[in-house]
Amino acid sequence: MIETLKENIKNIIEGKYNITNVTVEDGKIENVDISVPLFVVSKQTKKNPKVVFDELEPVLKFEEIKEVNFLNGFLNINLDPKLVSKKVLESILEQKEEYGKSDINKLEIIVMDYSSPNIAKSFGVGHLRSTMIGNAIKNLYLKTGAKVVGINHLGDWGTQFGKMIVAYKKWGNEESIKKDPINELQKLYVRFHDEEKTNPELEQEGRDAFRKLELNDPEMIQLWNWFKDESLKEFMRVYERLNVTFDSYNGEAFYNDKMDAVVEELKEKNLLVEDAGATIVNLEAFNLPPALIKKSDGATLYMTRDLAAILYRAKTYNFTKVLYVVGNEQKLHFEQLKAVSKLMGYNFDIEHIGFGLVLVDGKKMSTRGGKFKRLEEVIEQAVLDAKAAITEKNPNLANKDKVAEAVGIGAIVFNDLKNDRNLNVDFNLDNMLKFEGQTGPYLQYSGVRIASILRENKLDNSKIDFNYFNETHYYDVVKLLSMFPQVIKRSCEQEFPSILAKYLLSLAQGFNHFYGRQKIVVEDINHLNTNLALIQSIRYVLNEGMRILGITYLDEM
Ligand code: ARG
Repeated sequence: MIETLKENIKNIIEGKYNITNVTVEDGKIENVDISVPLFVVSKQTKKNPKVVFDELEPVLKFEEIKEVNFLNGFLNINLDPKLVSKKVLESILEQKEEYGKSDINKLEIIVMDYSSPNIAKSFGVGHLRSTMIGNAIKNLYLKTGAKVVGINHLGDWGTQFGKMIVAYKKWGNEESIKKDPINELQKLYVRFHDEEKTNPELEQEGRDAFRKLELNDPEMIQLWNWFKDESLKEFMRVYERLNVTFDSYNGEAFYNDKMDAVVEELKEKNLLVEDAGATIVNLEAFNLPPALIKKSDGATLYMTRDLAAILYRAKTYNFTKVLYVVGNEQKLHFEQLKAVSKLMGYNFDIEHIGFGLVLVDGKKMSTRGGKFKRLEEVIEQAVLDAKAAITEKNPNLANKDKVAEAVGIGAIVFNDLKNDRNLNVDFNLDNMLKFEGQTGPYLQYSGVRIASILRENKLDNSKIDFNYFNETHYYDVVKLLSMFPQVIKRSCEQEFPSILAKYLLSLAQGFNHFYGRQKIVVEDINHLNTNLALIQSIRYVLNEGMRILGITYLDEM
């Protein structure tokens, strides 16, 4: 509400003088809610700031504005806390979890490529980041009215599958793969690489097998399908626990029969060059190394499949924008993809949503060779630790396992999303599971405190007395609540879930501060309902924010 007002004020000033770049800021001094630096207007209109102020004062007529003052070249606005609070709270209590929704992106059709783990390899912590960042951005786009298609571009194609098939045929065992698919397949892959060192012919065998696979050899296809199914079973368990779904699981292999057409198109557009037997697209004009389209043996590559994929997606979904949520180490790949599609004459809006590494004790975390073999084990540990903490805090809690699942996973997810995604993430289970501080459990716990009060005391909306909002500790919380729609908008525009995450922390802090200072359950019925209305509003916003980030909110813990 305050944000809308700020927007309106900006429009009025810019409209009146036919200028741009007017900034309308939050007030930084006592009793100032909104502040407009007038020098911006002065400069463009060549009028003295005081003159501008005198002209603007009569124009800024909004019922929420209590007074307007001129101070040191600023136009300062003081709002009526009671009226503002009434508007903010009434709109939250009416819209409930819909509060903050908008249609600013209603014309957008966003294709999102995220998660995209590699078959027969472990689901790494990097894929977890992609999954959760992608999921949060998807929810932000949905909240702002966009149509979103979520695609899991599974890494299910490439020379490594040829190697895997060779390794399986030489040393594999059906039973042990069924028992622990990804781990066993990964072992085979490692063995292949070890033996390759003493037996260089293996490499060629691997290439041949992949070539056969690309040519649809039935035996190869059958093995590949089996590896894929076994791996997917494991991935699906993780997605289920994270509560993440996709609209499509078309991985790299899906584009196998669409590859010739891309290569043909590149050829027609005179973009292909032979280079030491391989086929490339020269990207010197973009200051980039060449994009590899085909290897000397004719096998296609990651890039070729991404080109086929983007053309297919453009045709199938008619997207306005395509987002790739992939670690920063693939930055160059996406720059090349952009460059090649541009050379082909397409004007796709391609965005690479990068992110940093996951570190343990300052070193890159890897499920390979690390303490945990699989991501599921990491999750399991977090859930176990959460259960221990909950049991200590609340021994009689029902549904402990369900709560522990939500808290343990919520802790990992929030830890991943709370900072600028480009930064590295520090993975420390003890820290992320703390009930105080910048953690997922802290958000969940704040919500639970509110829920328990609301269970004992039913809110009666007709008995709210907005006069209480003249007190700062009430009004401060309202101001936070009023920011939510703008936070959603900004978090989505910049594609940074951390903006929302940080806001939720400050809202939870705002609540805890209020709670520490104001007795909620009081005798006076109007006062009680005023308090309940405020905390109910906080709860709606907290829950909705957590939902968007992919964190389960709780009633008890
Ligand atoms: N499977 C790839 C990897 O793990 C990520 C794929 C990202 N998506 C894409 N369209 N290239 O590195």
